[in-house]
Amino acid sequence: MKKLHIVGNWKMTLNKEDSIALAEKIKTISKKDNLNIEVAPTSLYINDILKILKESDINVISQNFDFESLGSFTGGICLDQLIELGVSKSILGHSERRSKFNESDDQINSKLETVLKSQLDVIFCFDSYDQVPFDLIKNNLNDNSKIKLTLAYEPTWAIGTGKTASIDHIVEIHTKVKNTLTEYSLQNVPILYGGSVNPSNSRDILSSNNVDGVLVGGASTKFDQLLGIVNSI
Ligand code: PGA
Repeated sequence: MKKLHIVGNWKMTLNKEDSIALAEKIKTISKKDNLNIEVAPTSLYINDILKILKESDINVISQNFDFESLGSFTGGICLDQLIELGVSKSILGHSERRSKFNESDDQINSKLETVLKSQLDVIFCFDSYDQVPFDLIKNNLNDNSKIKLTLAYEPTWAIGTGKTASIDHIVEIHTKVKNTLTEYSLQNVPILYGGSVNPSNSRDILSSNNVDGVLVGGASTKFDQLLGIVNSI
């Protein structure tokens, strides 16, 4: 049975009280074999959520980072600070970072290079095959046996719209990416799908060829829906 990943991206949608209440509920979810569950709260509350989920089966990850080390970067968050808190993975290059915060492909790829060389794992989001920097990944992922990279295909038009990509489309893109990863001897890199995943479509998506998991936004902020996705496996 292949290992599956369910990653909840809470974005900036929950205040502190609601984030804590959700974490208190999801800490009761027990992990099934071959299932990895992660949530990415807003950075402001990440320490609170880490404490609540410390003894649980749910891993807490970051939504983003700016730099590698401490320095004069007002408003920034660095990898060293995340590591200090006990965070071991971050999302990178979400389409909202690209479109709403004007992060360019170059900036995101440079952050990818930084994180691949660090001790943090990363979930790199892309919305088209051409956005995956295969050469950069190959050149910076030195030890293929320790996979610290996950890719997440998230077509922008499917994010938060209720319009999920068809299974045929998801499989087509994932297979194209997986084939190229294989040419680079990176076939162990998992590929998640994200874009309006919910308990009604998650089973079909998660059982599709070359889909290793889902990156879930809206539905991951509602306990019943997150549980529904977990139980759809
Ligand atoms: P959505 O968001 O599930 O609300 O479409 C997915 C994402 O942005 O990662």
